[in-house]
Amino acid sequence: MTAGKVACITGGTRRIGAHLAAYLATRDFDLVLNYKSDRKAATKTADKLVSDGASVRLVRADIASKTSVGELMESIREHEGRLDLLIHNVGVYDPTGFDELTPDVWDTAIQSNLSGGFYCAHYARPLLEIQGGVIVYMGFAGVDALVANVFAPAYQVSKTGLLVLTKSLAKALAPSGVRVNMISPGQMENSVDLAEDRGRIPLGRPGKLTELSHALGFLLDADYVTGVNIDVAGGHKL
Ligand SMILES: NC(=O)c1ccc[n+]([C@@H]2O[C@H](COP(=O)([O-])OP(=O)(O)OC[C@H]3O[C@@H](n4cnc5c(N)ncnc54)[C@H](OP(=O)(O)O)[C@@H]3O)[C@@H](O)[C@H]2O)c1
Repeated sequence: MTAGKVACITGGTRRIGAHLAAYLATRDFDLVLNYKSDRKAATKTADKLVSDGASVRLVRADIASKTSVGELMESIREHEGRLDLLIHNVGVYDPTGFDELTPDVWDTAIQSNLSGGFYCAHYARPLLEIQGGVIVYMGFAGVDALVANVFAPAYQVSKTGLLVLTKSLAKALAPSGVRVNMISPGQMENSVDLAEDRGRIPLGRPGKLTELSHALGFLLDADYVTGVNIDVAGGHKL
């Protein structure tokens, strides 16, 4: 059992997830980092965090599978015995327009990004309710506008649904002291399609990963904030 605070990050071993993990380690969270397929990258990230003094446990789980998510949360109950922060960071992005969009591509985005977000909240809820924990979902810039997206419709639908889930869970879980919010990155320094959008960012530059952890830090400290989305996007998609 763990005496200190415990954070679990889905898809937490690479890119944004790994950055948020390193930030949380500086705030004395013990880390449960989930990955799906890239064991080598996960081990490399964990080894670096541990060498910097963090406590890290890696858990392989497919967040698109309710059985797998149930097992992940059960392992936290057994090993850490508490959960203070859950970040659902998995966000499968496969920009496929309707002409090529197959049911399999659709299912992967919806199950990983949206259903997985619900599975995580569902199975983590008893742990989060023990001491009033926090859930953070990862959206994407402009998600709070109800707009068409013919470029990546499955991703758009999954993240729009996730925002509604954020607000709904925030209201439902407030009586048990659990807060639920969303952070929505825009074009970050590591974004796969930054080149196309660079000129459309009002603040004139891509975001730094540290600007995402600033938002996370705010949400951790802001005890009276629940059900909100914070775009960290330099005004992109306004
Ligand atoms: N990067 C950006 O510019 C940007 C912009 C807007 C929004 N976002 C959002 O921010 C979040 C993080 O973005 P990112 O670009 O850092 O993520 P990413 O590189 O696309 O993926 C992060 C991790 O998700 C894991 N993953 C994928 N499917 C999974 C599943 N079914 N179960 C468990 N793990 C799974 C992968 O693990 P394995 O390595 O083991 O396969 C991967 O390491 C996402 O929600 C994304 O939508 C990012």
